[in-house]
Amino acid sequence: MTQQSIAPRTTTLRDGREVTLRPLAESDRDAMLAFGMNLPEDDRLYLELDFHNPNTIVRLVNASEAENWRQVVAVADEGIVGYGNVRMLVGWKRQVGDSHLVVSEGWRRSGLGTFLARTLLDAARELNASKVIIEMIEEQAEGRSIFEHLGFRLEGTLANHVRDHAGELHNIVILGYQL
Ligand SMILES: CC(C)(COP(=O)(O)OP(=O)(O)OC[C@H]1O[C@@H](n2cnc3c(N)ncnc32)[C@H](O)[C@@H]1OP(=O)(O)O)[C@@H](O)C(=O)NCCC(=O)NCCS
Repeated sequence: MTQQSIAPRTTTLRDGREVTLRPLAESDRDAMLAFGMNLPEDDRLYLELDFHNPNTIVRLVNASEAENWRQVVAVADEGIVGYGNVRMLVGWKRQVGDSHLVVSEGWRRSGLGTFLARTLLDAARELNASKVIIEMIEEQAEGRSIFEHLGFRLEGTLANHVRDHAGELHNIVILGYQL
């Protein structure tokens, strides 16, 4: 099964702007590079995936047809304004999907993150996941509340687990959602 199995879906956000979600495609490379470069510098501190780094973008775009991933972009007139993925883990965690989500700064607080997250949960069901997890830095309160609203629950904390770009250590929280 390929990424194409996520059907494009369009919605009008709370602020009246229209956005379409569809699978990431190889032809999205330049738009994804622009999306990554325009993310706030602060996001680099908080995100596992460094979207400012072109190598990260190229790696994601090259995996657009990978069987155990679903990658979704939110597209508006100005280009890509959101990105999310769910990737199935391997071995004895193979029923678990790991997810990431990011929305352009000018598009936050309008419901796009929630729309993307719901689409990723649908994609996880289609991948036969029985559970989806999100790992994030403990201080990342806004990222956390959107998932808690969707029904994710705190499952654990890993102390001093990641070092950010500025060299600081942070705790990681793991949020889980049983499908
Ligand atoms: C987290 C993120 C994806 C949320 O996207 P979004 O489009 O703003 O999300 P929504 O508009 O659907 O917000 C859903 C709810 O989350 C909460 N929330 C979102 N941003 C918030 C903020 N800055 N402060 C407090 N609560 C916030 C609110 O409860 C909000 O509902 P409300 O607007 O009705 O009050 C976005 O802020 C982002 O890209 N952040 C950087 C990356 C990140 O943290 N990713 C998550 C970990 S992978």
